[in-house]
Amino acid sequence: MRIIVTGGAGFIGSNFVQYIYKERPDWQITILDVLTYAGNKSNLPGLDESRVKLIVGNICDEELVDSLVKDHDAVVHFAAESHNDNSLDNPRPFLDTNIVGTYTILEAVRKHKKRLHHISTDEVYGDLELDDPAKFTESTPYNPSSPYSSTKAGSDLLVRAWVRSFDVRATLSNCSNNYGPYQHVEKMIPRQITNIISGEKLKLYGSGENVRDWIHTEDHSSAVLAILEHGKIGETYMIGANGEKNNLEVFNLILKFMGKDTGWLEHVNDRPGHDMRYAIDASKIQKELGWTPKYTDFEAGLKDTIQWYTENEDWWRPQKEATEAKYKELGR
Ligand code: NAD
Ligand code: TYD
Repeated sequence: MRIIVTGGAGFIGSNFVQYIYKERPDWQITILDVLTYAGNKSNLPGLDESRVKLIVGNICDEELVDSLVKDHDAVVHFAAESHNDNSLDNPRPFLDTNIVGTYTILEAVRKHKKRLHHISTDEVYGDLELDDPAKFTESTPYNPSSPYSSTKAGSDLLVRAWVRSFDVRATLSNCSNNYGPYQHVEKMIPRQITNIISGEKLKLYGSGENVRDWIHTEDHSSAVLAILEHGKIGETYMIGANGEKNNLEVFNLILKFMGKDTGWLEHVNDRPGHDMRYAIDASKIQKELGWTPKYTDFEAGLKDTIQWYTENEDWWRPQKEATEAKYKELGR
């Protein structure tokens, strides 16, 4: 099996590459990644070059994408502009990568009749009320709130249309919030951990009531592999691990595990259009593909993540200053 992993130098894509490298030793992996601020070669330590190749290039480059897809069996498409706050500040790169980039990949897999798995997010469904008994399922109507989630929604709809109109062999997955090592310090959990290590306060948006459904990134990777190998063409699979927590709860756990009191917590301006709650019903992938998450103890996973950032300051320190300068401009 020869696979292309787009965005394989980012947080989740690199975890998937490491996972496949370990779990499928006979597979050849080609990473296609343009190495934006979020892509980092050092997310991919210890890989043998005879099995994993990194091509530094853009998924919007039709010629490059076409020539790579021609020589592979499948594409697992992680590459995206992925951060809501950036999308609210400057939406354009989100349209280019998430929409035009996905279109470019779809045209190549259509032409060469290759398998595609498209990675998406639960944010395409909009948000739930705090007391809503329902969770997101594969049939929840799309209702995205931000330039990030609306461009991801657009990319999902393109994939569905290419399946129906052109018989492209694609599957889709919509996963909840990931956490774990190698996540960029712009995202919520790494930002707070690295703030404390830097002697800065934690920055909580609004009241902190907003709920996210946390999953360890390796559980996301194992679910994607299950879909790639056993998923039904044209189907969407929700991926989640019953990890609902409100932001204030997560901030308090970080304070507790890092030995700080609530004086370290600062309330900052809320994000415009801030989604209130995400929650995933993952029963379809569990029933149909037999997938189950391994990291079901969020507190243990968070402790490991704190330890990883504490021990890997060389990895995150170069991102920190520019990230915080951007947040300062946004007043967050
Ligand atoms: P990330 O921002 O850490 O990584 C994105 C990667 O894509 C980077 O390596 C970047 O260099 C690359 N990239 C961006 N634009 C590109 C382009 N035009 N051409 C080639 N490469 C490009 O993102 P992530 O958090 O790892 O997310 C990966 C995927 O998973 C995204 O599709 C995202 O929507 C989805 N997702 C993320 C989460 C989450 O919690 N982070 C949850 C559900 C789904
Ligand atoms: P984030 O990691 O940006 O993921 P997403 O927007 O995709 O859910 O944010 C997770 C939650 O944390 C979200 O409700 C916004 C909030 N948040 C903060 O309270 N403080 C922060 O510094 C950041 C980055 C996010």
